Amino acid sequence: MWHPLTQHKLHPSMLGIVKAKGAILTDEDGKDYIDGIASWYTSMFGHCNPAITSKVAAQMQLLDQVVFSGFTHEPAIKLSEALMEILPKNQGKLFFSDNGSTATEIGIKMALQYFFNKGEQRPVMLAFENGFHGDTFGAMSVSGLSVYNGPFEDFFIQVERVPVPREDTIEEILQTLETRLKRNDVAGFIYEPLVQGAAAMQMYLPEHLERLLQVLKRYGVITIADEVMTGFGKTGKNFASDHVAIKPDILCLSKALTAGLLPMAITSCTREIYDAFYSDEIAKGFFHGHTYTANPLACTAALAAVELLQTEETQNNIQRIIKCHQEFNKTVENHPKIEKTRQCGIIYAMDLNIKMERYGDLRDRLFNHFMKQGVFLRPLGNTIYILPPYITTDAQLQKIYRAVTSGLDSI
Ligand SMILES: Cc1ncc(COP(=O)(O)O)c(C=O)c1O
Repeated sequence: MWHPLTQHKLHPSMLGIVKAKGAILTDEDGKDYIDGIASWYTSMFGHCNPAITSKVAAQMQLLDQVVFSGFTHEPAIKLSEALMEILPKNQGKLFFSDNGSTATEIGIKMALQYFFNKGEQRPVMLAFENGFHGDTFGAMSVSGLSVYNGPFEDFFIQVERVPVPREDTIEEILQTLETRLKRNDVAGFIYEPLVQGAAAMQMYLPEHLERLLQVLKRYGVITIADEVMTGFGKTGKNFASDHVAIKPDILCLSKALTAGLLPMAITSCTREIYDAFYSDEIAKGFFHGHTYTANPLACTAALAAVELLQTEETQNNIQRIIKCHQEFNKTVENHPKIEKTRQCGIIYAMDLNIKMERYGDLRDRLFNHFMKQGVFLRPLGNTIYILPPYITTDAQLQKIYRAVTSGLDSI
């Protein structure tokens, strides 16, 4: 097997995981680990949650898979109705696919074809510096420049970058953006709202995002919120876009959408975007489709997850974790090895003030320390972050915090 994001020569062995329940992963030797990052932000309601698995098991006996072009089915219809209840009110249509990269790829294609269908020349996409939107070509193009993308850069779509705003830079960024947009050639702007996940959980203010979106809307630019990481409660609201008054034209969802049970993604858009594809001309349609589009089992898992998200228990758990992180932060923020800490909802991150050697092993040493303590966390560079499933108990959270503090002391 060829594992993802892995240089096998440097990391030849993989740990066998045999089961998972709630917040716990168990390896082949029977050792337990608290899943402190919800398996890449997916299993927010806990692994193998019976409220989800039982519904998927029942659906499996009824309809497993069917072509979604020309056919429809109840799990997709019910999920769509449930999502429309919680998505920003300006969203009017849902397009299904398989993973976060395809969700953003589709958002980008929708923006480009929207103007193509209207006969407007707008070939440029804007994106934040250091954003991450996935590994397919469109998604890679709009992601921040990375050494890993070197072999592909010559094939990228046209992308220009916008710095992530800070208090001391927002005015200048707005001015530069306004001047740039006067050329009327920008189709869309894609952004991770409030938290840039792969950029080591960098956070920025909703007020700043709102001001940027105001300018972009004025120039008719299609705004695409990539909520693949932030969606479904992690920022303390259902979507990070709920913190901002100006709503995106397109929203990309995946990861926690199916609560980690099955791969699926959805790109939602406004009725206005959909209408630009609705035509007597067949070529104006959106000819994008994946074999497993709206798989009935994945839709069933997603519907169960959306229902779970809205329960009082889940909402209380989210508030409980937010408070626990805040209390923990008070105890560590002045630690001599910490540069700064930040939190948005249940996402908590700390930057260490330890210089990273170019090929240093700080990340690996921390990772190994956490695993020895029975805690699965994946530091990014010299940032440690925690993004636990909502069902993580107080005792499990304390165990994660202890592993982090002892990790700081050990390096
Ligand atoms: C914000 C964001 N967009 C897109 C993706 C890509 O999702 P996937 O790995 O499912 O393709 C990720 C993955 O981490 C992400 O964090």
